Amino acid sequence: MEAHRQKLIDDVRRAIADKSTETDILQAAVELIDAFSDNFDWTGFYMLKDGVLKVGPYIGPPTPHTVIELNAGLCGAAASQRQSIVVDDVNADPRFLACSVTTRSEIVVPLLDADTVLGEIDIDSNEPGHFTEQDRVMLEAVAQVVVERLKTAR
Ligand code: SME
Repeated sequence: MEAHRQKLIDDVRRAIADKSTETDILQAAVELIDAFSDNFDWTGFYMLKDGVLKVGPYIGPPTPHTVIELNAGLCGAAASQRQSIVVDDVNADPRFLACSVTTRSEIVVPLLDADTVLGEIDIDSNEPGHFTEQDRVMLEAVAQVVVERLKTAR
């Protein structure tokens, strides 16, 4: 992995090591993830609670989608499939729920503890096709770091 990508993973691990609540862990992580790229235009967490995805800490414009059902949106799809989803052109994907009219591409990476979905990282970009394979691999590693910390904090 390129050094600046590995650095994000290491920075997140370090930043959340001394955080003890879920909100503090996710807030520290989201700040670092969002700062990784000027083209991350909405960066946030959704957490699976009571069978629905509830918005957690995020950086970006307010979203109308504070609660997302598992059968709705790209967020619901990633959580129910337990797989990352990368969409190069959100306007061509019928599953897309718009947070902002300027969004052109999106990545959703589940927070997986084995087969259990704890939540997900969701990032929108105003650039079409912004998210690369390297971004996906990096964010999946960040997700694992966050999951390991959440497990010990709980
Ligand atoms: N685009 C997401 C909804 C969340 S907002 O982008 C913050 C979706 O399609 O599920």
